[in-house]
Amino acid sequence: MNWDDTAPPTTEDPATGAPDRLVGADADGEDTAVEAALRPKDLEEFVGQERVREQLDLVLRAARARGATADHVLLSGAPGLGKTTLSMIIAAEMGAPIRITSGPAIQHAGDLAAILSSLQEGEVLFLDEIHRMSRPAEEMLYMAMEDFRVDVIVGKGPGATAIPLELPPFTLVGATTRAGLLPPPLRDRFGFTAHMEFYAPAELQRVIHRSAGLLDVDIEPEGAAEIAGRSRGTPRIANRLLRRVRDYAQVKADGVITREIASQALGVYEVDARGLDRLDRAVLTALLKLFGGGPVGLSTLAVAVGEERETVEEVAEPFLVREGLLARTPRGRIATPAAWEHLGLVPPQQQAGAGGQQGLFGA
Ligand SMILES: Nc1ncnc2c1ncn2[C@@H]1O[C@H](COP(=O)(O)OP(=O)(O)O)[C@@H](O)[C@H]1O
Ligand SMILES: [Mg+2]
Repeated sequence: MNWDDTAPPTTEDPATGAPDRLVGADADGEDTAVEAALRPKDLEEFVGQERVREQLDLVLRAARARGATADHVLLSGAPGLGKTTLSMIIAAEMGAPIRITSGPAIQHAGDLAAILSSLQEGEVLFLDEIHRMSRPAEEMLYMAMEDFRVDVIVGKGPGATAIPLELPPFTLVGATTRAGLLPPPLRDRFGFTAHMEFYAPAELQRVIHRSAGLLDVDIEPEGAAEIAGRSRGTPRIANRLLRRVRDYAQVKADGVITREIASQALGVYEVDARGLDRLDRAVLTALLKLFGGGPVGLSTLAVAVGEERETVEEVAEPFLVREGLLARTPRGRIATPAAWEHLGLVPPQQQAGAGGQQGLFGA
């Protein structure tokens, strides 16, 4: 009945309680240490995102030609797609210094005032997770972005006075995984918004090749393609899988990453051909084997895989939905025909000839 009795429990990040996974898109400690060395330094080197690159190139070129500071830029997209990298590229292309901070680090308007008032002319201020800034800081930012001015409040209560402070022109680069959460007045103050998309396998293959070169790893094109296909459209994951495959190639082979070696290594790490890991497969397997493909409620599904509701909903499902393997419907979760195919199983209505959910997918 239980799909997997022997598997170890998912390890957890003690800080967030979120499962720590090889195919997670957030940076772990090792990523942070290695990423600096792997970041492309200019737009030319930045792989993929053709439209964003072209548009950004125009924005930056025009500003340079005018001898002006570039417009504020908003970068929106999932974790690991290159937002931090692009912010650094913007500064490099403008020949400007960059200051890096994040929404959660700015809890009081005073924190922001301190940063803004110490900016140099033309400096790039990178505000990561800008949707997580506090309200008062956000309001201060509106004025800073528009008028290059902040009101510093001195004193408290009825006697408080606002002292206006002029700021040098600067470029704000905001990054967010949730552009929809930004208040419209903030969104409207960006001159340019770049929507970062997930990368195509061929683009990830280029990212992997580039990183392999920098890490001095021998890789065949087929090896890079194999890793790319399992990287969930995300350069950060591609770079992480590359490092794990490199380890395997060193220990188990002659160090060269071929398709065979990449496939064996990722098999050991339980990352399957489409980039699903153990948790993803557990959810899908339960949905298919225990509930005939659904519909089944989220809570029931979570109990069946021995995970929290939130873990299934926030960690496993988004990718399964994006891959077209699972659908969320008002009646519950259902598997798509692609899910049956991916796990090599046959849907019950095809076995028996009649099924309760026939017609849902026209199957
Ligand atoms: N277009 C790209 N080309 C090459 N490497 C990339 C690209 N985008 C991201 N990367 C790499 O992926 C990793 C994560 O990128 P990062 O900018 O930190 O993502 P984000 O800030 O969106 O979470 C970095 O090591 C970076 O070098
Ligand atoms: Mg980042």
